[in-house]
Amino acid sequence: MHPPLALSAKAARTTEQPISYFMKQALENPDLISLAAGLVDRESLPVAEAREALGGIMNQPDIAKAALQYGTTEGLPALRERVWHHVARLDGKSLAAYGLDTSDVVITTGSQQLLYLLNEILFDPGDIVVTEAPSYFVHHSVLTSHGVRVVPVPMDEQGLRIDALEALLERFAKSGELKRLKLIYNCDYYQNPSGLTLSLSRRRELIELVKRFSHEHRLLILEDAAYRELGFEPRGLPSIKSFEEGSYHVIYAGTFSKPCAPGLKTGYALLPRDLVAPLLRAKGGHDFGSNNFSQCLIERMMADGAYDRHVAELRGVYRAKCDAILTALEEEFGDWPGASWTRPEGGMFVWLTLAGVDTGPNGKLLSTALDEGMLYVPGEFCHMPDEAGFLRRDEMRLCYGVEPPERLREAVRRLRRAADSIARASPKKASLAV
Ligand SMILES: Cc1ncc(COP(=O)(O)O)c(C=O)c1O
Repeated sequence: MHPPLALSAKAARTTEQPISYFMKQALENPDLISLAAGLVDRESLPVAEAREALGGIMNQPDIAKAALQYGTTEGLPALRERVWHHVARLDGKSLAAYGLDTSDVVITTGSQQLLYLLNEILFDPGDIVVTEAPSYFVHHSVLTSHGVRVVPVPMDEQGLRIDALEALLERFAKSGELKRLKLIYNCDYYQNPSGLTLSLSRRRELIELVKRFSHEHRLLILEDAAYRELGFEPRGLPSIKSFEEGSYHVIYAGTFSKPCAPGLKTGYALLPRDLVAPLLRAKGGHDFGSNNFSQCLIERMMADGAYDRHVAELRGVYRAKCDAILTALEEEFGDWPGASWTRPEGGMFVWLTLAGVDTGPNGKLLSTALDEGMLYVPGEFCHMPDEAGFLRRDEMRLCYGVEPPERLREAVRRLRRAADSIARASPKKASLAV
């Protein structure tokens, strides 16, 4: 008999992703149409562009050797320079206007690494982070594993509700909890999971609010722009970051996973200057530099214009898929009482509400949908209980990024059959509020 392992308190707080079980089901059953996985469209992955960039690197021995060597903790200088120019171009702003320079840009191992490392350098157990409700569930589990108290603030069609956030901050100021509030997390473009976007006026208001409530310490906004470049229109909204004077409150998190290739697992951060050194110290212990080869490849694709051409093509790909799923929802759920869904302007997620139907892992709909051959992410996985302990259970995330339009339509038909079948089995229950 071996005695049990003595794991850390943090390891004990770190739970398995609730979605893992369902993902396994999808992999084991090829007939299942999964609208659960958040992978990107397979057909449009930039194979030719990557081959070209790879050739450009490997055909020049000195460049190839540099790419195969370790890089630096902060990342490839040429890529950091490009990233900064790139974000400025997306914002339609001059570089000088940000109060930043290239040394405030750090390349990360996907934006997920940034989310994780920020926990290491900002939070002690009991600190507070505000998130949108619903929000990106992988981030929830990183926060809770660090002992952070996650406080959700509701959204509407314009994204995070600034009035609700303001009321919360006022309450925190009165109760003394403002001392523990460190960060407001906002996935402001075509949000994962809802597909909603923070409106232009609210971007400005958010900056004003954090400035107003930065009493003893500076409140931070984490602007997670993971889906920004998948907007259906070429000119999307400017970033929250672009509204601040100087660079004090907003951490801008970008990634090449969605607009280029998740296999390259490369992201980046634009940081307030005094956050750069603590982040680099933490990253030094983590990996002392992200994959240098991926960084060289991406830098090449950006340098020769292949990246921009690819992103322009993606807009059409995701728009067509989004149109397909929205049409299918209209056809299949247009007559379902209490059904409503978001109409994204980019990204890859639609948020469907079936008022009164338990969409969670213990409800009938999920297992019946699996029997019908479709899978979704239960909405409750994307919520944290509110301060009264209430957890919403009648929503779901549908990802239209992976499957082709015809299979998206078929998945929604299967979902409707599942919903019909549970409504027939217990007509009263299906209309009960959950
Ligand atoms: C909202 C959001 N942020 C961050 C990430 C992390 O992506 P990556 O680490 O691949 O950049 C994801 C991945 O799906 C995401 O949906």
